[in-house]
Amino acid sequence: MTASGSRSVDDERLRRFALSVWEYKQGEVVSLMIHLGDRLGLYRAMVGAGPLRAAELAERNGLDERWVLEWLRSQAAAGLIDTADGHVFEMTPEAAAVLADETGSVFFAAGAFQGGLATPDIVDRLAEAFRTGIGLTYDDLGESAAHSVERMLGPWVRLALVPFILPTLPGVMDRLEAGASVVDVGCGAGVALVAMAERFPASSFAGYDPSQHAISRARLNASELSNVSLKVAEAADLPSEPTYDLVLTLDCLHDMPRPAEAMSAIRAAIRDDGVWLIKDIRARSDWQENRRNPLLAMLYGTSVATCMSSALSEPGGAGLGTLGLTTELAARMVRDAGFSTFVVHDFDDPANLYYEVRV
Ligand SMILES: C[S@@+](CC[C@H](N)C(=O)[O-])C[C@H]1O[C@@H](n2cnc3c(N)ncnc32)[C@H](O)[C@@H]1O
Repeated sequence: MTASGSRSVDDERLRRFALSVWEYKQGEVVSLMIHLGDRLGLYRAMVGAGPLRAAELAERNGLDERWVLEWLRSQAAAGLIDTADGHVFEMTPEAAAVLADETGSVFFAAGAFQGGLATPDIVDRLAEAFRTGIGLTYDDLGESAAHSVERMLGPWVRLALVPFILPTLPGVMDRLEAGASVVDVGCGAGVALVAMAERFPASSFAGYDPSQHAISRARLNASELSNVSLKVAEAADLPSEPTYDLVLTLDCLHDMPRPAEAMSAIRAAIRDDGVWLIKDIRARSDWQENRRNPLLAMLYGTSVATCMSSALSEPGGAGLGTLGLTTELAARMVRDAGFSTFVVHDFDDPANLYYEVRV
């Protein structure tokens, strides 16, 4: 036994603690393997294929058998792919939904493993941010990070926004059918814009985002649609006269250095009978309540690496971060910005709540 301060070290607790730390390292390595499986089409090739050996999978994807075998064993060791003997492997339907079905499953997650947060350059800049207090913008994280955000957040938006979420907002579907003016502020890669613009051809859709990388992705995604316009611009650049029937801010207010100013700009740009849909993280003010979230450590780490960093990317930034815009704070801030109606919607999105805001 060794001593640490006045408390002696308990061997059993020490072993468990060390193991839990190594499990995070294991998560990092498994994350890389998930990305490789996604990138090389290995998961997609296994969907519905039944039991198969590395040689067959390698053949299907034009890859080297020995590498595929080691990857398959890594997947089986992680509990992602089934095997009884380490030679014949099979993907369950649940694994297919989470790891392979990017367009049809709200549970698709493999896209989030693309890019990684921690290139050496970004790690250096994050360490420096701890000293200066000034974080990195979304653009500072690079092109691949913009694509990763798109693939991480895209499935829910693509599959739920038009069929399930918009119809619960009274009057919104009729206005969109008739021809409404819509803006998505912090639109990222434009997944919501594309889903809406395809379904409501009589309406016009504007996307604002200060990230060049995100707007490049959005331009690509919306290239076939004549009713979508995109701008490298932030919330504060919205028109100062009432212009929009519907405003969306999806998973972005907590990333903004000046969310209160963004809300005032939205108040100026929305028509008096307009609707503002906010999607933001399910976050509580109470630490113990947040502790119930099994992915809380990932959310706080994401905050340091991405959300809080962006929200502190200007001097004096609000720095809300991933869990910073609680329901209570959102309600208070939108009232302060001049809105009178704030309705909370829970659509069983495991990560987010939705707020309907009206003047
Ligand atoms: C987590 S991403 C969400 C993107 C998109 N809404 C989605 O759901 O996929 C947050 C976005 O907020 C954008 N953002 C940051 N500051 C902003 C600001 N001041 N005004 C508008 N967008 C901003 C970032 O560039 C980034 O694209």
